[in-house]
Amino acid sequence: MECPKKWKFLALTVVIFVIFKFFVLREYLRPEIATRVCVSNLSNQPILLVKDTKHLIISAYKDHRIHGAVRIISIMERLHVKVLSCIVCCSQKGYVSATAEVDMHSDNFGFPFVTTDLLCKTEPSCNATAITVVNTPYLSDISSRSFLPIRNQKKVENDFPYNFTVCISNLFGDYNNVLQFVQTIEIYKILGVQKVYIYNTSCGPDLERVLQYYKEEGILEVAPWPIDHFLNPSKGWNFQEHKGDIHYYGQLTTLNDCIYRNMYRSRYVLLNDIDEIIVPYQHATLGLLMEDLQRQNPSVSVFLIENHIFPKTVYDSDGRFSLPQWEKVPGVNILEHIYREPARNYVFNPTKMIINPREVIQTSVHSVLKNFGDVFNVPFDVCRIVHVRIPLQGSLKKEELIIDTKLWEYKKELVPNVNHVLQKSGFYT
Ligand SMILES: *[C@@H]1O[C@H](CO)[C@@H](O)[C@H](O)[C@H]1NC(C)=O
Ligand SMILES: *[C@@H]1O[C@H](CO)[C@@H](O)[C@H](O)[C@H]1NC(C)=O
Ligand SMILES: *[C@@H]1O[C@H](CO)[C@@H](O)[C@H](O)[C@H]1NC(C)=O
Ligand SMILES: *[C@@H]1O[C@H](CO)[C@@H](O)[C@H](O)[C@H]1NC(C)=O
Repeated sequence: MECPKKWKFLALTVVIFVIFKFFVLREYLRPEIATRVCVSNLSNQPILLVKDTKHLIISAYKDHRIHGAVRIISIMERLHVKVLSCIVCCSQKGYVSATAEVDMHSDNFGFPFVTTDLLCKTEPSCNATAITVVNTPYLSDISSRSFLPIRNQKKVENDFPYNFTVCISNLFGDYNNVLQFVQTIEIYKILGVQKVYIYNTSCGPDLERVLQYYKEEGILEVAPWPIDHFLNPSKGWNFQEHKGDIHYYGQLTTLNDCIYRNMYRSRYVLLNDIDEIIVPYQHATLGLLMEDLQRQNPSVSVFLIENHIFPKTVYDSDGRFSLPQWEKVPGVNILEHIYREPARNYVFNPTKMIINPREVIQTSVHSVLKNFGDVFNVPFDVCRIVHVRIPLQGSLKKEELIIDTKLWEYKKELVPNVNHVLQKSGFYT
């Protein structure tokens, strides 16, 4: 006899709950409220944690190659992906929610967290301006969420602000290699690079001064990258050996973000590490190199450049570039290291890349994962990477190394330019 009463009570509760939800949802779907929340809660943080998950979202880009769907660059725990929804702010029209399609990158080097794209389709009637990710389809706590602005709203076909941008992923630890950094940036300027992007977790005190100088001067953009506040980043590339949550301070995530960030700002993007320089060996500038390469290979969007090691332990015998004013500057003087390790037939030379960012969908470190167009291996005598570092073939004697003085060709401009920067950032008293 008690049963019907119980059911009535239950039914009433459900009805009240539904009515409540309906009004709460309506409230939040009202355009003026939507606009207010989307505008007032636009994130200025470089990394956002999705509430009640371990997922991190970094940035959102309108992708004109997939009908304007929004691509969110994110970091997911590989083995614990649940259904996620995108909440899209449509300007003047409120919110819409949609299931996020999860496109996990195929490279993870064994680490539990991996770069992942979340793809969110939008209605043509929605002018999507901001977006966030939630792990529940309910919108009731929408005003407590932070939204990512959707970048790349406009597709640009030509006349980019820059021709060459370098993406340097991941500055971390107390890296303080000032002289090599300044020499590298100044060589890149001579070669025609107009913008350098660095993702900064941390750096040494002297390099910090140089970064500040270049930021003010204009060539450098430093993107904060506090990945260590969210995960235990690995200092290495291989999970078995180095452990940690994510490969090499999230290098794969920053490289992908850099490509999308510069998609409509730069004709080409160079992807290399902080101690590597992509040097044309037959052309005076990257512009002349790419004009030739692209004319000969019009369908190519990814140019692979071989890495070559110049051991920092082996010095030029004359010491002609061991300049007294550089002696007290921390870091490696790359002009003193002109001995190159020979290529080994049985060892693959890893590559770095010059890419057309509008044709790349996902990238790894040494090759792209998904792209339109073709991939081209640039011959070693046309262009190669000068990489001054600890030797890979440490047992070789000086006579067994190859003399390669390419960088000396820039000395007339390079030496005074490096001196100028060191002077301006306070290394000469
Ligand atoms: C879309 O929204 C942006 C930002 O509110 C606005 O500047 C732009 O004019 C809107 N475009 C359309 C087609 O409504
Ligand atoms: C914005 O988001 C934060 C959480 O990221 C939240 O604390 C805050 O209440 C939200 N709303 C507004 C209007 O700032
Ligand atoms: C890029 O290169 C082209 C061809 O060399 C040149 O005409 C153009 O002015 C350059 N653009 C910029 C922004 O430097
Ligand atoms: C790099 O990041 C560290 C740690 O957040 C910060 O102290 C430093 O100022 C940053 N450097 C630049 C040039 O942004």
